[in-house]
Amino acid sequence: MFSVAIDGPAGAGKSSIAKAAAQRLGFVYVDTGALYRTVALYMLEHGVEIHDPAAVEAALPQVEIDMAHSPAGQLMYLCGQDVTGKLRTEAVSLATSVCAAYPEVRAFLLEVQRSLARRANVLMDGRDIGTVVLPDAQLKIFLTASPEIRARRRVKQLLEAGQAADYEEILQDIRARDYQDSHREIAPMRQAEDAVLLDTSDDTFEESTERLIRLVEERRRP
Ligand code: DC
Repeated sequence: MFSVAIDGPAGAGKSSIAKAAAQRLGFVYVDTGALYRTVALYMLEHGVEIHDPAAVEAALPQVEIDMAHSPAGQLMYLCGQDVTGKLRTEAVSLATSVCAAYPEVRAFLLEVQRSLARRANVLMDGRDIGTVVLPDAQLKIFLTASPEIRARRRVKQLLEAGQAADYEEILQDIRARDYQDSHREIAPMRQAEDAVLLDTSDDTFEESTERLIRLVEERRRP
């Protein structure tokens, strides 16, 4: 199997770029953030105190996660229910960042991620894929963009979806999440030593996708 590990902060375009590249390469795209989001959603929906690691750990055995792939993208099921549409709210984003810092949550999801990579050629997107989950991935990418560019892209996305968007607030959330994700003790977000840095700040979506595809093709050549 050929595995591509793609790590980097929220909003750098990782998921849309990786999804488009996977489609063209015939790889399976795996969004690992959605796994963490599904765990956090369970905690929110069941009134688990997310700031209490013992309470989160105690609830984990009840969290049943399934994943399916459809033409519309990756679908997430929580205890048998399709929750894909509930995972992208700001409340879930913030709760996910808290839960993702707990070693028990990371251990719970580690084997799920590794087994996906054993079954297919994957482009797996997350924060610690190249460093922890798939340290032997044939290609590792650290995909990023400046916080300001990421906030601007998010504002545009929200406005296009007819939702309210406050640039300063979004920028602050992005900075808080970056800090939390890169300063946690377990599996902090960082660039693996052997990862290729892909900064998308000055690129269009198509340019970034092309760059990623080229990197995969170069690495796959015998
Ligand atoms: O990629 P995303 O925005 O959907 O990620 C949601 C949260 O989950 C984010 O706070 C980082 C965390 N995460 C993680 O810690 N490890 C991963 N492999 C993927 C996501």
